[in-house]
Amino acid sequence: MSEKNWSGRFHEPVSELVKQYTASIEFDKCLANYDIQGSLAHAQMLQQAGILSEKDLAAIQSGMNEILQDIAAGKINWSIDLEDVHMNVEHLLTQKVGDAGKRLHTGRSRNDQVATDIRLWLRAKIDLIVDLIKDLQTALVDLADQNAEVVMPGFTHMQVAQPISFGHHMLAYVEMLGRDNERMIDCRHRVNRMPLGAAALAGTTFPIKRELTADLLGFEAICQNSLDAVSDRDFAIEFTAASSILMMHLSRLSEELIYWISPRFAFIDIADRFCTGSSIMPQKKNPDVPELVRGKTGRVVGHLLGLITLMKSQPLAYNKDNQEDKEPLFDTVTTIVDTLRIYADMMRGVTVKPENMRAAVLQGFATATDLADYLVKKGLPFRDSHEVVARAVRLAEEQQCDLSDLSLDVLQSFSELITDDVYAVLTPEGSLNARNHVGGTSPVQVRAQVARWRALLRSG
Ligand code: ARG
Repeated sequence: MSEKNWSGRFHEPVSELVKQYTASIEFDKCLANYDIQGSLAHAQMLQQAGILSEKDLAAIQSGMNEILQDIAAGKINWSIDLEDVHMNVEHLLTQKVGDAGKRLHTGRSRNDQVATDIRLWLRAKIDLIVDLIKDLQTALVDLADQNAEVVMPGFTHMQVAQPISFGHHMLAYVEMLGRDNERMIDCRHRVNRMPLGAAALAGTTFPIKRELTADLLGFEAICQNSLDAVSDRDFAIEFTAASSILMMHLSRLSEELIYWISPRFAFIDIADRFCTGSSIMPQKKNPDVPELVRGKTGRVVGHLLGLITLMKSQPLAYNKDNQEDKEPLFDTVTTIVDTLRIYADMMRGVTVKPENMRAAVLQGFATATDLADYLVKKGLPFRDSHEVVARAVRLAEEQQCDLSDLSLDVLQSFSELITDDVYAVLTPEGSLNARNHVGGTSPVQVRAQVARWRALLRSG
């Protein structure tokens, strides 16, 4: 007799190729513990609803515990003949406890079962990801704290724009990651709803108690429409979208790290353990990790597109298409978990080179806006002051010096409003200190933001 549960209806066994094509056990076996968790709650509910005897429940519980131990010990032979994790586990159970195992599937279907398993699995992964994002934020906040006073050129259009604090730059990413975490936590509420009880698509004729199962599994709500419960994977799409945005943020930081490390910039160094050499060019130290993060962003965004295309135009209710939800979802989680772990470690291995950053600020007339603001404060309309400074910049460019290198006489030839207090605003440090309001780059503000984030990260 074939092991397939529906074989009685068929005249011939399924072809070998079809078996391989339709099986999911190779990848869904990682859901086994969650499948068992769901089954134990389902069985307990069935017993309390008077659908399953106490004896059967006890047999299911002891059988499942043995299976959990076998899984932990790596003793299970997952069988492709049993197609997926759900039928494998049920078969193992039945081998151990007989008829009680065969009664477990009462009042449910693999359709509501698999949707429940993925949600339980994803919920746990989101909790891990939230902690990993916080750890990376902590590494960045530490860097911001140590470098609040370090001046670097801030860029717009990749041209030196204004001096900023390196700490402020790090905190920009802490903000982005903070929103990434909000998205994860928000998405978790929609993941954390229970499909179980929807059965194949229409519900079940048994007097089940869905609230009870939901309580046992820690779901915050139950899906209110059976068709929707078994078919939609919007929660997985949403998670992959949040993950794509997270990776997009990390790809931006990666891009910056890559050029900051390049000898042309030499703003920072990352520890050797995050770099590789070249097989031919002995001088090379390549930033492989940030480059791979940049590359893996495409992979995660690809999973988002894959999942949303998988769902597009699917009629209600469950279709086998949905079995294709797993690999993109699993790979998204593996990729972002590994990326976050390595990133936090890598940022803790960053060495900052303040002298090189400061030298770059002095090469780009980064305090030109400060001079314009200075003249406005002395009464000149901003448009006129913009013009005065543009002429001063042209002269400094011709003389290949910084604005602060021009003598007072020369500066006064552009505007009589300039007096010797001008040099305080022309230095990079003066420029930083002057931007002293919430959201500004002054070291005072950077330190206030560091304190704010430390409190937020502590309070969970
Ligand atoms: N392995 C399937 C999946 O991942 C489980 C549900 C199958 N249901 C069905 N009626 N064929 O979606």
